[in-house]
Amino acid sequence: MGRKTLSLLLAGVFLGASTLASEVVLKKPPESLDNYYPPKSKKWEFLSKMHAMSTYFYGINLNINNEDWKNALRWAKELKKEYVATSKMVPEWKEYFKPKLADELVKAVESKNVDNVLKAAQALGKTCAECHAEYQLSVKLAYHFPSFESIKLEDPIEFMEMDTGKYMEKMTNSLKALKIYLMQGDKDNAAQAGEEFVERVRALKGMCSKCHTSKLSVEAIMGKEYMSNLDKLGEVLSSGSGDKGKVFGLLQKATSACMKCHNVHLVPAVVQEKFEK
Ligand code: HEC
Ligand code: HEC
Ligand code: HEC
Repeated sequence: MGRKTLSLLLAGVFLGASTLASEVVLKKPPESLDNYYPPKSKKWEFLSKMHAMSTYFYGINLNINNEDWKNALRWAKELKKEYVATSKMVPEWKEYFKPKLADELVKAVESKNVDNVLKAAQALGKTCAECHAEYQLSVKLAYHFPSFESIKLEDPIEFMEMDTGKYMEKMTNSLKALKIYLMQGDKDNAAQAGEEFVERVRALKGMCSKCHTSKLSVEAIMGKEYMSNLDKLGEVLSSGSGDKGKVFGLLQKATSACMKCHNVHLVPAVVQEKFEK
């Protein structure tokens, strides 16, 4: 077998998880995974094991392509060691690991028979892909993103502390009320709902600094230009002119922050909530 074919075939071993799917599974990660992620651990031990295994797996491929069987064997043994160590980290996941297959890969490399290596690599790679298909995304969403669960916001209208979801609902209702009153031509109520909306968005910005120490992240979504547009919206509303066109124009800019922030923070927050992480 030529070198090109071998590297192609071995590359295929790692593509197992990225085949076409009509459904994406997000299984709740097991409790003991908590031990290897913030806030319990800042070392990301589980993720580093993944990087190690993947690197050593590639080390086999790389060296066989260079016909360096000695080094290929070295990485096969390292891979086996890491695989076995990883299999002991999360007891709930014991069944996903097949240490025998890691051993068989070492033996296949020892045999210096490319077909044997391919077969053994594919069999082991399948155990990686099976777990990834079920858990890789959910683990990222549950552990790589901040939790909004403990975040409380003080509502500037009702002077009450509430969680993020409730606050969002109140802010959105002010926004909807503003639109409805405007369309009904009810200037006074539009002005009141609109001012409440503006106040709630202003107070929302204060929430960012509970986690963000760099102003840059906050400014990316709610920067100077954004805030001065919000000021303008407040002024137009309190002037009582009820200028629909102007208000809707300013609103469009004001709500741009909603989608931008949701693109970063909403999807993981919702998944975490489902998992109660
Ligand atoms: C921190 C950035 C951020 C900004 C800015 C933001 N949101 Fe949200 N929003 C979130 C997060 C996080 C959630 C999920 C909260 C949860 O469900 O616990 C959410 C949830 C929501 C929900 C669903 C509420 C629920 O729980 O059913 C609505 C509606 C909403 N936001 C509207 C808005 C609107 C309108 C704006 C802009 C005026 C806005 N959001 C701005 C972060 C943000
Ligand atoms: C029992 C489950 C499980 C098994 C078995 C498993 N993995 Fe993973 N792997 C995961 C999870 C969960 C993630 C996501 C971790 C994260 O992003 O924090 C992951 C992520 C990865 C990543 C991506 C890392 C990144 O930065 O996004 C690589 C590469 C990887 N695994 C390689 C392997 C290899 C190679 C094997 C087999 C030899 C393997 N994994 C076996 C669960 C598993
Ligand atoms: C519960 C904590 C928390 C809150 C509250 C929060 N963020 Fe974040 N945000 C994070 C973390 C953590 C990241 C990911 C940073 C990383 O991985 O480097 C992030 C990422 C971002 C990013 C993209 C990456 C970056 O750092 O620029 C933006 C933009 C952002 N947040 C804006 C906001 C804004 C605006 C608010 C307030 C309306 C907000 N965030 C509220 C924790 C939070």
